[in-house]
Amino acid sequence: MEKIREAAAYIKAQLDFKPETGIILGTGLGGLVKLMEVEKEIDYDDIPHFPVSTVESHHGKLLLGKLNGKKVVVMQGRFHYYEGYSLKQVTFPVRVMKLLGIKQLFVSNAAGGLNPTYGIADLMILNDHVNLQPANPLTGANYDELGPRFPDMSQPYSRQLIEKGLEIASKMDCNVHQGVYAVVPGPNLETPAEYKYLSIIGADAVGMSTVPEVIVARHMDLPCFAVSVITDLCYPEAIEEVKIEKILAAAAKAEPFLTELMSNMLDS
Ligand code: HPA
Repeated sequence: MEKIREAAAYIKAQLDFKPETGIILGTGLGGLVKLMEVEKEIDYDDIPHFPVSTVESHHGKLLLGKLNGKKVVVMQGRFHYYEGYSLKQVTFPVRVMKLLGIKQLFVSNAAGGLNPTYGIADLMILNDHVNLQPANPLTGANYDELGPRFPDMSQPYSRQLIEKGLEIASKMDCNVHQGVYAVVPGPNLETPAEYKYLSIIGADAVGMSTVPEVIVARHMDLPCFAVSVITDLCYPEAIEEVKIEKILAAAAKAEPFLTELMSNMLDS
């Protein structure tokens, strides 16, 4: 708790600013930043106790500023379990953003499409998730001042935000679905048998992020909105070798739509 407070105090000392929305940008999905009026950019390395990002396709920066006229704090680059961080480290920034004052959390990620109606570069608004990582960010002593020991998960993604997202998406020239996201530890992609298993247990998409952050946000009662960009297809007829270049290309194709969706989500 002390570390969370120190990190938040450092950021507040850089800029007196109270963001309303926290946004975490996934792999290859940094385009939103171009629309932002950035008031302050802080390297993760400079923030006390912040983990340091190791993946090349991620920039490790916290951006404070306005998007669509609304005060936001944006994580450009996130931390993943597969990089070797504990889930407490992965979710540390979410705790810090809560202390900065955010009232809601938006998250994006790249994911494999398990639902056979999904195509490359489609978007999926998450309406639920299945946690298949072998850990949970809430184990250990509970931060009683931030949330309860046994947080409710009956509405991991805000129904109200999902409805708003679908309404915005219906006016966009892009396929947008809603579905269930399964999170795996990574870093390898899945075998065909694993994709089949994920589909049988009810997942529409699979990825390696988002769920830890959402668990921690829900612990603190923050409404969450999350979107996957489908970067590869994982149902039997469509499975092919996955290359990171292809994932990044699909993310780049969907990025303008994701940007439009996220930015319009801030209209009240
Ligand atoms: N599996 C897991 N994570 C992913 C995938 C996938 O197929 N695509 C993008 N992230």
